[in-house]
Amino acid sequence: MSGARSVLVTGANRGIGRAVAELLSRSDWRVVVGARDGDEAAAVAAALGARPVAIDTTDPDSVKRAREAIGPVDALVNNAGVLLDAGTDPLSVPLDLVERTLAVNLLGSWRVCQEFVPAMVERGWGRVVIVSSGTATFHNGLFAGAPGYSVSKTALNGLTTMLAAQTRNSGVLVNAVNPGMTRTRMMPKAQREPADAARDIVHAVTLPDDGPTGAFLRGREQIEW
Ligand SMILES: NC(=O)c1ccc[n+]([C@@H]2O[C@H](COP(=O)([O-])OP(=O)(O)OC[C@H]3O[C@@H](n4cnc5c(N)ncnc54)[C@H](OP(=O)(O)O)[C@@H]3O)[C@@H](O)[C@H]2O)c1
Repeated sequence: MSGARSVLVTGANRGIGRAVAELLSRSDWRVVVGARDGDEAAAVAAALGARPVAIDTTDPDSVKRAREAIGPVDALVNNAGVLLDAGTDPLSVPLDLVERTLAVNLLGSWRVCQEFVPAMVERGWGRVVIVSSGTATFHNGLFAGAPGYSVSKTALNGLTTMLAAQTRNSGVLVNAVNPGMTRTRMMPKAQREPADAARDIVHAVTLPDDGPTGAFLRGREQIEW
């Protein structure tokens, strides 16, 4: 086994997550391709020379099984996410859509952090990237046209600051990244290529030991929450 660092990317079967897995695979990381469909994880992992794992971030047993299968990782990219309520508004959005959104975007990422971050703290090194969104910033105003999605990412930003505070000086850096509007199944009309968003996320995975923690990053810059 090489001395390369290991990284788990959730939702790595397509879109931004796949692009992140691909970029890290080319940069001497031991990548674990996480996907809720184990066959899709296996297919992408085979194409990238990575390792697959089935992980549905909303299912506690699935997340636990994934950790037992792959063991501790040095870095974690919490990428899995859903956009279910585009075109609604806060006064009329069906709250079951908000609930399902929070289950994946907030609680799913939180669950995966609870499973993998304690071992990073114990080992004295780790990088955690939370894939957030420009829809979620108080600085610019939350995007009300997808209210459950926006508020789920604002909550993730809050989680980022709390995890960063709890792990400060442990060797673990926890940051949120705004990848920008990127052409994926979630945003089919966006201009940005997944590979460009992936570069920004990989920057946060590969931060030096004196890099920021508890920051909101866009590209290589720190931005307002
Ligand atoms: N595209 C953008 O413009 C944009 C902008 C800002 C932030 N983001 C964020 O970037 C991340 C990736 O999105 P994307 O644009 O690449 O969208 P995407 O192509 O729709 O990919 C979403 C990924 O999340 C996975 N996923 C959903 N629910 C899951 C669950 N319960 N467990 C495990 N995986 C699950 C999906 O798996 P399945 O294939 O099994 O459904 C898929 O791999 C998301 O967090 C999104 O909010 C995207």
